Amino acid sequence: MDKTYRIAPSILSADFAKLGQEIKDVIASGTDIVHFDVMDNHYVPNLTIGPLVCKAIRPLTDAIIDVHLMVKPVDRIIPDFAEAGADIITFHPEGSEHIDRSLSLVRDLGCKSGLVFNPATPLDYLDYVMDKIDMVLLMSVNPGFGGQKFIPEMLKKLSEARKKIDDYTQKTGREIWLEIDGGVNPNNIAEIAKAGADTFVAGSAIFGAGKDSDPNRYDSVVKLLRESLASV
Ligand code: DX5
Ligand code: ZN
Repeated sequence: MDKTYRIAPSILSADFAKLGQEIKDVIASGTDIVHFDVMDNHYVPNLTIGPLVCKAIRPLTDAIIDVHLMVKPVDRIIPDFAEAGADIITFHPEGSEHIDRSLSLVRDLGCKSGLVFNPATPLDYLDYVMDKIDMVLLMSVNPGFGGQKFIPEMLKKLSEARKKIDDYTQKTGREIWLEIDGGVNPNNIAEIAKAGADTFVAGSAIFGAGKDSDPNRYDSVVKLLRESLASV
């Protein structure tokens, strides 16, 4: 069966001193989505990048910018990212007092919306808001840092999310992407795809593979990821 798989490099592991070039090169190596991790040192114990950086990179690529908000509260900052050129904005249910309202806010600003599930967060949050969701993002590590190990129990959770999405698509005809985030690499990506993911965030596995300044430094790791996906 032919399936569309999307690879989303997490720029958290890029060289921030050369961020623009990193993004151009990683997209040119055959990836699809810029995964943009926003951390606030409150919802998660780390601090990263905000709307100004999103705005700065927007003109550099036509690729989808997928903003993953690890922020609490989320509503104040959502419009800033929409304005900065985000295509997709996802947030954690724990980061919003009114999940349905925050999802609508993202959509009203012209972006695709999504909910993010920590390893121990139940998928039930999806049940009454599927119509307002374009992407489900499952964390396969606890959020806050790149370079952690994939939590194997998340394969079962992926299958459960896949089933919910497939049932919904069958009823409505509307597609929802299923993204996995954390510890993805060429050795486990096929198994993760089999469990149901169609969109794969990879930070350290991709950016860790290109140490020199060769513009094609990410080609071989992206090729490996694609080959593993082709074997599914
Ligand atoms: C973690 C972030 C991830 C992370 C992925 O909180 O949401 O996007 O950077 O990095 P790797 O692929 O290194 O696990
Ligand atoms: Zn992320």
